[in-house]
Amino acid sequence: MPSVIPTASCPEVLHQTLEGLLEISNLVGSVMLLDDILDRIVQIASGLIGVPVCSIYLLDDQGRAVLRSTWGLESDLKGKVVFEPGQGIVGTVLQTRQTVALEDSTRDPRYRPLPSSLSHGYRAYICTPMLIRDELVGVMTARKSQVYAFNHDEIIFFETICKQVAILIEKARIYDDKIQAERLAAVAVSLSGVAHYIKNVLLTMQGGEYLVERGIEQGALDRIRDGWSVLKRANGKIRGLVENILNYCRQNEPNFRRVDLNAMILDMVQTIGDSARERKVELATSLDPQVGEVWVDSEQIYDGLLNLVTNAIDAIPDGRGGRVRILTERLEGRHQVLIDVSDDGTGIPEDVREKIFNLFFSTKGRKGTGIGLAATRKIVQDHGGTIELTTVPGEGTTFSIYLPTNANDMTHAAPVAGE
Ligand SMILES: Nc1ncnc2c1ncn2[C@@H]1O[C@H](COP(=O)(O)OP(=O)(O)OP(=O)(O)O)[C@@H](O)[C@H]1O
Ligand SMILES: [Mg+2]
Repeated sequence: MPSVIPTASCPEVLHQTLEGLLEISNLVGSVMLLDDILDRIVQIASGLIGVPVCSIYLLDDQGRAVLRSTWGLESDLKGKVVFEPGQGIVGTVLQTRQTVALEDSTRDPRYRPLPSSLSHGYRAYICTPMLIRDELVGVMTARKSQVYAFNHDEIIFFETICKQVAILIEKARIYDDKIQAERLAAVAVSLSGVAHYIKNVLLTMQGGEYLVERGIEQGALDRIRDGWSVLKRANGKIRGLVENILNYCRQNEPNFRRVDLNAMILDMVQTIGDSARERKVELATSLDPQVGEVWVDSEQIYDGLLNLVTNAIDAIPDGRGGRVRILTERLEGRHQVLIDVSDDGTGIPEDVREKIFNLFFSTKGRKGTGIGLAATRKIVQDHGGTIELTTVPGEGTTFSIYLPTNANDMTHAAPVAGE
């Protein structure tokens, strides 16, 4: 395979070489994945220097050179061919950080054949270190089938390509570090939101404890009862948070059972009736007896509905009072049941609407974590259902959940509105 290293006497070859180098420089600025770029570079380099095999090895955490990209060897060797420092010609270059160019590598005592039939029969060999400033990040190698002495220009040319690859790797590292830093910052913000929420609930619990203690001291049953109800509500909030986190992170299938949906809703209304009354919110139901038993994970659907009802109560401004209605309906022709949770609260402004299902999105400051709707949507999706909403700012909001009524339908989940 002829080399296309430029010579002044051959303008066509010079043109080809410059084009190849330009393509490599452009790859340095591209947004392709690092492995795809390296694969393209070994291909271009092998054409430019006229060799059938060109490979890139990158250093791993233990300072070993691991085959990352190759043109000419089997691609399943990637990640499997490894050289320790000092081992073979690659290992020598790791230690000396100097290019090694050999006319016939098989005669060199350091030569180690690769575990590949394709690597046999190669003689001339060049191996160059890739350095980012003083740090060694890997090596690039090329092989020719025949005995051949690489000349000075060819070695310089190969080293130039290696420098481009090193720049590229540095760029990829900076990009990875940046993404990692951004992720960490996002996690920190999210965790601090959850921590503030828990702190808030703990403060409420302290208030409840105080009431219970004073009540015991004074033998005042009323105080004890008040304190106890504060503690129970706070306990419910922590339980809700933990369930939401678990529901959002859960990987396994829901535990499907036949469940009387209307009875479950009545049970929920009973449980949260007191706290709704305190907020002057009337909880109404309109339950279709045709709904009967539905094939769902009762705990998950309970948690999901509780999120919607809690949000609905929260949407009614403090002291104003209002109404939250839970409706069920069997949609015969569609093999679905509909569960609506409606409120006559604030409604959701348009710019907020598109974010409400995002994890950690909340407009409630320390009183919300923004996990509720994300977990609810996950639960509904895992049941093969969909969730939609209609809202009118100033008038109220309705969240509608559509669940399939037989197990077969659950494999045909429709996309969630707003995704
Ligand atoms: N019925 C509703 N009316 C008005 N806004 C709503 C309603 N339901 C949800 N939202 C908006 O969607 C946001 C996200 O709701 P989500 O339930 O995910 O989190 P949260 O209620 O803020 O906190 P938590 O995780 O504790 O439930 C809320 O902060 C609120 O702005
Ligand atoms: Mg919520």
